[in-house]
Amino acid sequence: MTARLAVLGNPIVHSRSPEIHGLFGEQAGIELSYERILVPDGEFAAVAGEFFARPEAVGVNVTVPCKADAWRLAGVTSDNAEKAQAVNTLWRQADGTLSGHNTDGAGLVADLINHLGWQLQDRRILVLGAGGAVRGVMANLLAQQPAKLHLWNRTRSRAEALVSAFGDKAEALPADQLETAYDLVINGTSASLSEQQIALPASIIGDGSCCYDMVYSAETTLFNRWCLAQARCRVADGLGMLVEQAAVAFEIWFGVRPETRPVLAHLRKTL
Ligand code: ATR
Repeated sequence: MTARLAVLGNPIVHSRSPEIHGLFGEQAGIELSYERILVPDGEFAAVAGEFFARPEAVGVNVTVPCKADAWRLAGVTSDNAEKAQAVNTLWRQADGTLSGHNTDGAGLVADLINHLGWQLQDRRILVLGAGGAVRGVMANLLAQQPAKLHLWNRTRSRAEALVSAFGDKAEALPADQLETAYDLVINGTSASLSEQQIALPASIIGDGSCCYDMVYSAETTLFNRWCLAQARCRVADGLGMLVEQAAVAFEIWFGVRPETRPVLAHLRKTL
């Protein structure tokens, strides 16, 4: 029986997930169909319910703006999903229960460590942003035991609220209290998407800093271009995170962890 999968969100037309999971399926010898399903405002539960009514439905990926709805819909949730209060992967377990997971943080950490070779342990990390994208990765970043994790957000109260949900291991700081030359700076804001410059002191980037933009594009993202203009730093965008979070989802559904390197190379070529 062909396993049915889908990605649910709005907008959804540009999602690369069907291609990624198609390649994973070929690798694993699993026959699958993977569709993009547009979710009208307020209709996540109805759309997901209709999808899972099919006997061949195995699971779905969930993207913006439906991750909190998916978290509410799931019958059981993983630790990560609880901490993020967001679900990007739903899986129908053998007993019929819908389990909710969040693989974004694991995907980011796998990309940083395995593909880029950027360590997190004992490093000074600055994370920019305090929306859903950052909330989804905080637990995984902290689990790597950085020396410190500073959080900056344009609206400081949101950064403080986010940090308080993760105990005292992270600290929310205003721009004028940020340190210089962080080892790793991760942009989790949506500023690059709208081609907006983030107002930040240049001194946060130093020679040797590693700079990661969670969004991706064919050209160097605006944030990464800004970083490169400040110092001799290294930059990467979020394409690897996209592929890695998909690999963790695939493993939840089928119990097989796909090889991500060839899939990432293929995607990069066809961006
Ligand atoms: P997401 O779920 O993608 O994180 P979100 O919850 O709307 O989306 O969060 C967007 C993040 O990008 C926020 O941290 C936002 O900052 P505010 O909380 O101050 O709104 C940040 N952001 C968006 N545009 C920005 C810009 N031009 N400069 C700095 N931060 C920006």
